[in-house]
Amino acid sequence: MASTTFPEGFRFGTATASYQIEGGATEGGRTPSIWDTFSHTPGKTVNGDTGDVACDSYHRWQEDVDLLADLGVDSYRLSVAMPRVMPTDGGPVNEEGLDYYERVVDALLAKGITPTVTLYHWDLPQYLEDKGGWLNRETAYRLADYAGAVAKRLGDRVETYTTLNEPWCSAYLGYAGTEHAPGLGLGPGAFPAVHHLNLAHGLMAQAVRAEVGDASQLSVTLNLQFNRGDADAVHRLDLIGNRVWLDPMLRGYYPNELFAITRGICDWSFVKDGDLEQIRQPLDVLGINYYCTSLLAMSDRPQFPQSTAASTAPGASDVDWLPTPGDHTDMGWNIDPKGLYDLLMHVHNDYPEIPLMVTENGTAAAGGDHVTVNPDGTKAVHDPKRIDYLRRHFEAALRAIDDGVDLRVYFVWSMLDNFEWAFGYTKRFGIVYTDYETLERIPKDSYHWYRRLIADRAIPQ
Ligand code: NOJ
Repeated sequence: MASTTFPEGFRFGTATASYQIEGGATEGGRTPSIWDTFSHTPGKTVNGDTGDVACDSYHRWQEDVDLLADLGVDSYRLSVAMPRVMPTDGGPVNEEGLDYYERVVDALLAKGITPTVTLYHWDLPQYLEDKGGWLNRETAYRLADYAGAVAKRLGDRVETYTTLNEPWCSAYLGYAGTEHAPGLGLGPGAFPAVHHLNLAHGLMAQAVRAEVGDASQLSVTLNLQFNRGDADAVHRLDLIGNRVWLDPMLRGYYPNELFAITRGICDWSFVKDGDLEQIRQPLDVLGINYYCTSLLAMSDRPQFPQSTAASTAPGASDVDWLPTPGDHTDMGWNIDPKGLYDLLMHVHNDYPEIPLMVTENGTAAAGGDHVTVNPDGTKAVHDPKRIDYLRRHFEAALRAIDDGVDLRVYFVWSMLDNFEWAFGYTKRFGIVYTDYETLERIPKDSYHWYRRLIADRAIPQ
């Protein structure tokens, strides 16, 4: 019979990222990131939204920590902004930037919440982009310096450091496509960015280890793709979307088939001797972000596609994305809890040596979220679709645990509504509602539901 309670030691959390929640864009010595530049460029984000204020967590962090404590989470996944810590090109570490994160980390620990810190969640300093950003190999070394500075200050107070968040998006949406900063639209010209992100991961991992040894866990977060449909198409996308990260990071090589399917569009000459040894570093746990699946077919379209986010992955020009069946979220993503189970089983089978964490799962529910005022004047947000989504994904995770996956923790995305990148503030993923006029936080029904789940260590029925 399927388990209904989570095993002892399993941890519950929520996640956010610096640019999406902090605001305070020009405070504390912070300088612009590529997302400041991008979002301030007309036409790049819905309504021209920017992260200038976001949820103002730069000032309201204590309130956020209190909400986390009341929720009862074991862990909180936050990211550190490099433009706060290393605001100038070649300049000194900005202690004021580190002070902010130290305050948050200490406040979390005081409430018994262990921090998981993402070192790079897409806010690359603009001064690095001005020198080529992820197309420039040097960026990987600068990220390692930054990672070392963070680990030196925060040390083992951070339970788990993750080097990169979703490098797939950085490379394929930011450099191959145009949806994310810096939005260059280079198609296959983005493969150097893929490799330099991998290199950065390895160098950052070493820089963190040099500071904290084994006292903290080391990790990376990948948005692994789980695709269904035509087997050839699925295999191609597994190579370009998944193994292009997993194999170098965990095995120390790029798969030969990847070279084969990118023949003619990329010569991989940017991979230098010794890089793969640098990239492959012992990791304690692997983070997976999961939201939905894709349905693929082979096509004979000759041109390089730019039409949808998913199809911006270079080397995928002969793959078509078909409409997915069933219900979809406000993002247009299909709701496929079994995909989470299948993905966890797949990674577990292919890379059995590494424990897993779900570093993100959640939904911007179709129809959006709306505040209602109760007769007593208190406010509520009824979000049954989010509760249903979360329930079904937690069930899928439990099933995977039952079937042998060493899954350690589950972070719900997101703690609060925030800046959803190119969609600005139009998509709400939070279990806490953010009123962007007043910056008031209003726990949604899903927050109360999750609170019960955590307290009972079982999915509320
Ligand atoms: C993944 C990203 O890491 C996060 O920043 C984003 O908001 C969520 N997915 C939802 O799209």
